[in-house]
Amino acid sequence: MEYVNITIDGQQVQMPQGTTVLEAARSIGVKIPTLCYHPEYKPEGSCRICLVEVVGARSLVASCVFPVSEGMVVNTNTTDVREARRAVVELLLANHPEDCLSCQRNLHCELQKIAADCGIRKIRFEGEKKDYPVDNDNPALVRNQNKCILCGRCIRACSELQGVNVYTFANRGFNTTVSPAFNVGLHNAACTFCGQCANVCPTAAIVEKDDTKEVWEALHNPTKHVVVQTAPAVRVA
Ligand code: FES
Repeated sequence: MEYVNITIDGQQVQMPQGTTVLEAARSIGVKIPTLCYHPEYKPEGSCRICLVEVVGARSLVASCVFPVSEGMVVNTNTTDVREARRAVVELLLANHPEDCLSCQRNLHCELQKIAADCGIRKIRFEGEKKDYPVDNDNPALVRNQNKCILCGRCIRACSELQGVNVYTFANRGFNTTVSPAFNVGLHNAACTFCGQCANVCPTAAIVEKDDTKEVWEALHNPTKHVVVQTAPAVRVA
């Protein structure tokens, strides 16, 4: 295996050829925020949160897909890098519902955490909000495309890990969505309700159904008729 010598934030490191800048940085404890990247799936380089400066390159590069090369010098925390990341997060938030306090993922949302890490208190851009119906017609998952940041992690979990291929990107531009083919609800798709998509979703675009309230009511108020659906058996690929 061939190794290359690179410098990240002043630290010299030797990495196997083919390693990405993100992997190299993480191997020496340098933190770079990510959203579309997931260590178990092929990187896509779509969200641009992981931008870094490579000295000599014409623009900032997405570290999750940029391979290291001999003599490379990388800066992960310059003013330009921080400003670019901040703008990317603000653009995502500009289209995002402003319901964090009542959101199921509040305090466990990767977008919320990155926004806090970037010190975002105000969004400079006025974006359009999406208004898709929430897919709630199945016993296991809630899919809210209004909270989707199009990172594609659910698509890769469903295809690369589970081999089920329920999700795909549809449409273009602002109208791009992640949905089952022909935009049918999950209950009409080949979904096995394994929950891997919810597991990797960085926001609350896909979450496991929370029946806690209904179960509690059924247990403590037996006169009240409450229908509690249970999830079907999970298929493990
Ligand atoms: Fe690198 Fe999204 S994490 S582009």
